[in-house]
Formats: sequence, structure tokens, C-alpha cells
Amino acid sequence: MVQPTSRHPQGGYHQPVMVDEVLGFLTPVDPKVVIDATFGGGGHSRAILDLFADARVVGVDRDPDAVAQAFDHERLTVVRDNFSNLASVVERAGVADAVDAILFDLGVSSHQLDEGARGFSYHRAGPLDMRMGPDAVRTAAELIDESSVEDLARILRDFGEERHARRIATAIVENRPFASTADLASCVAGAVPAASRRGKHPARRTFQALRIAVNDEIGILHDALVGALELLRPRGRLIVLAYHSLEDRIVKRLFADRSQGCVCPPDLPVCQCDADPDVRLIAKGVRASEAEVAANPRARSAILRVAERAS
Ligand SMILES: C[S@@+](CC[C@H](N)C(=O)[O-])C[C@H]1O[C@@H](n2cnc3c(N)ncnc32)[C@H](O)[C@@H]1O
Repeated sequence: MVQPTSRHPQGGYHQPVMVDEVLGFLTPVDPKVVIDATFGGGGHSRAILDLFADARVVGVDRDPDAVAQAFDHERLTVVRDNFSNLASVVERAGVADAVDAILFDLGVSSHQLDEGARGFSYHRAGPLDMRMGPDAVRTAAELIDESSVEDLARILRDFGEERHARRIATAIVENRPFASTADLASCVAGAVPAASRRGKHPARRTFQALRIAVNDEIGILHDALVGALELLRPRGRLIVLAYHSLEDRIVKRLFADRSQGCVCPPDLPVCQCDADPDVRLIAKGVRASEAEVAANPRARSAILRVAERAS
């Protein structure tokens, strides 16, 4: 059992975010089949099973820990897989052409962050691993060892929006290999200017960036969402919770493009494609309530978007 922390006040595997909002967007669909593409601690799945008495939920997670701790329920199936393989998951579960809703609650679970042995946290001593599951091809330590200063600086800039990307990347390459999260965190702290050591931990963005790179989180997201839209029945809903601007931008752009219909180049004065939108926007950028953020600080960065398949 994970101990309560300020980030994770209730303890347990993971405290789900914006559950009432997710249920609210599912209610008009009255779903019979829901795919929970990021099962984690199963908080969203459990709430869906409780509210919709004849819904079946297929939970997916790439992390064996999530699957191992899944609760038993006669209407729940949980499989270990990457959500980039949802079409095959749906096929194997025998629910192809019947999917009413798909939920993506992106990023890491509190369990992953709180287990030092997983290597995700600059707060906890552990090996520099950061793989969400065995399908990730290399650990953070291997990624660091195999990357040039330029590669690392790009990762830190693109995935961590780190202002001191080049300084940190240079220090990492000069001081590698790293045996542990603590060694990397102190190398990063030593590399940034003193003013940047105040406030949030100076290694926060570096750890986020490496985690995203190790798990190819941004690389697979767009195609996974496109695939998910194709698996929905007409009027089925895709619900996405994102936790940082990089992933939210992908969701927002995809939903905006698909709800627009016309695919003509912008310089054409009149539409010639006559394409109908295949998606209807249901919710754009909904945020957690103040009460929820006060109870669960992780909810502060959550952005919820919902799209409905038109046909
Ligand atoms: C924020 S947690 C989900 C929490 C969950 N909604 C709950 O109520 O407990 C994100 C989960 O998604 C999983 N995950 C992230 N990327 C994934 C991917 N590409 N395929 C499958 N699972 C993924 C992580 O392993 C993690 O367990």
C-alpha cells in the first residue's frame, strides 16, 4: 500500500481525477461497453461500473502492477497492453463494433511515482528506470547513456519545456553513468543557476522529460486517439484527461481538426472537399473544481476534453 503524501493525500494506488465530470459526459450515452485505456488503480472503471449497472468495462494498462492489483468484478476485464494496440484489445475482448466510450487518463499513476523502485521520482531513491511497462524499449539510464548532449537537450526542451536544457544536458553527459534517481537529481540541481533552485525541485522538468521519452508518450498519442475514434460506435464518446500542455495540445488539435470537416488547404477561397465533420466537440478544456484541487493537488493540472463520433 502506498503511504499518503501531499501529492497523494488518500494513499492507495491512485486517486482518480474528475470522476463526476467523466460520469457526467458518459451519462447521455448510457454506455454498455466502455474501454478504460489507462486503467491504473481502476478508480474511473469502478465508478463507471457502479453508475451504469449493465455496462461492461475493458481496462487496459501497459504496467503489470496495474493489472496485478485490479479488482475482481463480473463486468470488468483488465489486460496488459499499450493503448496504441486498442484495436486488437477490442477484437480480443469480443466488443468490436460495440464500443460506446473510451477513456484516456494520461500520464503516470501515483503508484508509479511513489514506488522508488520504478525510478520515476526525484524524491525517492531508486534505479533510474522510468519504464511504465516492459514494452518500453530502454530505461532512463540507458537512454542517458546512449544520447548525445544535443539529443538530451532536445528531449529536455521538447518534453520538459526546460529553460536550462543545454546546461543540464551537458552536465548529465559529463557525469554519466548514473546509478540512481538521487544521483541524477543532484547532478541536475548542481547544473541550474542558483535562482532556479528555489521553489519547485530543479529536476522536476528533467524527470518529466525523460519519462515521456522513455515511454514514447507523445510519439504514440496522436495515432492512438485517431485509432480510438475509429473504434467508437456512432455517438460514442472519447474522453481524454491530459496533465500537461504537450499532450493536451495533441488532443485539442485533433478534436478541432476532426470537428471541422473541410480538409481543403486554407488558401482555397471556397471549400471544394465537401467533407462532413466526423466528430462533434462536447467539452473543450474543462478543469477540476477548486474543491477537488484542494483535496487532490494532482487535479490542478488536469484538462478534460470530450469528442463524440458523428457517424
Ligand atoms: C493517470 S493513471 C490512470 C489512473 C486511473 N484512471 C485510475 O482511476 O486509477 C495513467 C495510467 O495509464 C497507464 N498508461 C500510460 N500510458 C499508457 C499506454 N500507452 N498504454 C497503456 N497504459 C498506459 C499508466 O501505466 C498508468 O497506470
